[in-house]
Amino acid sequence: MNSTYSRIVGTGSYLPKKVLTNRDLELAVDTTDEWIYTRTGIRQRHIAADGEKTSDLALEASRSALRAAGIAAGDLDLIVMATTTPDMVFPSTACLLQAKLGVRNCPAFDVQAVCSGFVYGLSTADSFMRTGQYRNALVVGAETYSRILDWSDRSTCVLFGDGAGAVVLRRDSTPGILSSHLHADGSYANLLTVPGTVAGGKVSGRPLLQMDGGGVFKFAVKAMDDLVEEALAANGMQKSDIDWLVPHQANIRIIQASAKKLGLSMEKVVVTVDRHANTSAASIPLALDEAVRDGRIRTGQHVLLEAVGGGFTWGAALVKW
Ligand code: ACO
Repeated sequence: MNSTYSRIVGTGSYLPKKVLTNRDLELAVDTTDEWIYTRTGIRQRHIAADGEKTSDLALEASRSALRAAGIAAGDLDLIVMATTTPDMVFPSTACLLQAKLGVRNCPAFDVQAVCSGFVYGLSTADSFMRTGQYRNALVVGAETYSRILDWSDRSTCVLFGDGAGAVVLRRDSTPGILSSHLHADGSYANLLTVPGTVAGGKVSGRPLLQMDGGGVFKFAVKAMDDLVEEALAANGMQKSDIDWLVPHQANIRIIQASAKKLGLSMEKVVVTVDRHANTSAASIPLALDEAVRDGRIRTGQHVLLEAVGGGFTWGAALVKW
């Protein structure tokens, strides 16, 4: 077969059982459901159980995506895992996931691009597929942010949640991933960071998330706008050609600004931030899976994925379903 493109042929996702509502958080920090909801659109988030690791969440999402694609784990030629909350320093969470899937030999590696991780992972896997050497790839975004939050800091702990999403890419003679566009600017590293590291047998530096919320907000809105323009121009498409926007789910106000830029009504935007909060690299595949399974995203439609995250990193992928 003379194919040099890839298509998404299956999606899956997983959310830990435990739900933490804004009302629950009112009991822990000086906040209110009203403050959180009006500033962010978040009502609740899922929290991994003790002992439930990022690779466990990834495993459930991957199994679901494999079932949807109608292939076995043994058919995979490539595993790309986007996470900022790996199980351990090494091996990579992708390798741990591969072992849990019960397969061997295919390349498996992590991509670290924080909230843009899934778009980075998808673009990476698509590039591999375009060489023609791979038939089936698994791209997973999975996170356990609950482990890197300062639960006494109301300005950050209310924003994030745990979860995982996955897609299976299949080699095809026509493109599903039409284009992807990745960017980074490390000069913004301090605006959103977990500055801890392991050194000399100890954790050195603060291993908890810290953020300049206003700075992130400003940058994210502009970056999302630029991504829309870039993705449309690269494909010679108009805003009206986009059927669905599946943005990173950080904050409903950032999402609304991006939809406005596209001239899309919010009915054409997949929103999960109210129920999932910000699950970083997992947020886009979680949202995608929901919209595919409930029948909103259908064959032949154009779907724009876009994300901004720590680094800063930002990226978009334009996908024909
Ligand atoms: N509950 C109640 N009050 C709070 C809370 C809280 N959870 N958190 C902060 N406040 C207070 C602040 O202390 C401040 O009080 P003060 O005026 O007495 O000093 C007041 O609320 C306003 O704080 P701001 O930070 O100015 O609030 P803002 O309206 O900017 O909203 C927010 C903050 C929601 C974090 C916003 O800046 C934002 O969404 N930024 C984007 C951050 C983000 O999404 N990061 C995720 C990772 S990056 C990404 O995924 C794109």
